[in-house]
Amino acid sequence: MNTPIYSQLIKHQQENRSSFHTPGHKCSDFLPKELLRLDFTELPDTDALYEAEGIILETEKNLSRLFDTERTVISSGGCTLAIQTMIKLAFDRSVRMGHRTHRMLFARNSHRSAVNTMALLGIDPVWVYPKSECGLFTGRTEAEDIETILNDNPDISAVYLTSPNYYGEISDIAAISEVCHRKNAILMVDNAHGSHLAFGGENLHPIHLGADMTACSLHKTLPVLTGGAVCNINHPDLVRYVKESMSLFGSTSPSYPIMCSIDLCCDYLLNGSGKRDYTLLEETTKHIKKIAEEKNLLLPERFGLCDPLRICINTSLAGISGKMQEQYFAEHHIDCEFCDGENAVLICTPFNSEEDFSRLETAVRDLPVIAKRHSFSVHIPAVPEKICTPREAMLAPGETVSPENAAGRTAADTACPCPPGVPVIMPGEKIDENIHLTQPIKVTL
Ligand SMILES: Cc1ncc(COP(=O)(O)O)c(C=O)c1O
Repeated sequence: MNTPIYSQLIKHQQENRSSFHTPGHKCSDFLPKELLRLDFTELPDTDALYEAEGIILETEKNLSRLFDTERTVISSGGCTLAIQTMIKLAFDRSVRMGHRTHRMLFARNSHRSAVNTMALLGIDPVWVYPKSECGLFTGRTEAEDIETILNDNPDISAVYLTSPNYYGEISDIAAISEVCHRKNAILMVDNAHGSHLAFGGENLHPIHLGADMTACSLHKTLPVLTGGAVCNINHPDLVRYVKESMSLFGSTSPSYPIMCSIDLCCDYLLNGSGKRDYTLLEETTKHIKKIAEEKNLLLPERFGLCDPLRICINTSLAGISGKMQEQYFAEHHIDCEFCDGENAVLICTPFNSEEDFSRLETAVRDLPVIAKRHSFSVHIPAVPEKICTPREAMLAPGETVSPENAAGRTAADTACPCPPGVPVIMPGEKIDENIHLTQPIKVTL
């Protein structure tokens, strides 16, 4: 058999490693094996995603009850499709309001799917920089920064930010939504990493805290097949157009197994033991975080509110790089979601086994602390010079150059370590020699 993908996945599965990465179902038995035999398509009795009026609409109504929204729609094209849908809805609202500039406020740590959508729609971003104590991609967006920008730019009617971020840090959504609503701007939150935040001890979901729309990557932290996501809407001006907006970007062949897994997950959280399981898990993650703290390892909790279920260990003060952590955890049969130069990020769900948590606890307890450092080696590059809009740059004739030859040129694409998928340079910006590029990049001619 010549089956490179299938053969490697079987090999990986047989290694019996502990998954602290997506998807949230962790390949457990939660999702029934018969799901594969339910891979149907849009038929007279199976409804249609973009014209839902039967079973899909019914499940969407259940999801709407689950998240307490005016409307929740399913995506089988990941959070990326939910993000595209949100931004298109905000764009159309801005046009209906008579704004001609197509400018919107985006947090600088936006995922590249948002940047690509800006280019597709011709949106001109105004950036707000999250405040961070320990890294380029970390930090929280602050309400007062948003208020200042909205005061100076009355043509902006939409704000977009990511919360929680990859490291689990949560921005003050209640304060930000209060500012946005006072300024008649709608608030969109990329909640890719926080679908589960409605189901813990305290409801920290951004839709509950006042966001008008959220894009939620259910598959990351809930027991849903990869690609399963929702777009939540809590604004009367936007509900009517949601399917139309989604169908502009989405595949005409939505996956029924993915939608079915969302349906099963919704029932588990609405009617089953889901909320109890997610709430109870907070005890386990709290315990492991405490062990890390006692070893003087740094957690983002030190700087503010965080996702209770995400474990992010920053070892910079202990003299260990994130990459060393990755290797160390791998030796303990633990796969992290992601490790950068200073952090290891682990995604925990109730579908991790007891063995997974026992391995993790042992690994964190025994993590060797090499030396004590007292400051971060954080390099946050200066704000790049803007030459043109993302659309102008991405649609312009271009060429791909090596990192050494990129300085001084205008980026025609995002330069983006993935994960976390957050660009270090945006299309249309001049590449500064201090920007650390690791791969060739497309630039304009
Ligand atoms: C912050 C953020 N937003 C959006 C996405 C895109 O999500 P998806 O892979 O479900 O399309 C990701 C993926 O990692 C992400 O980290």
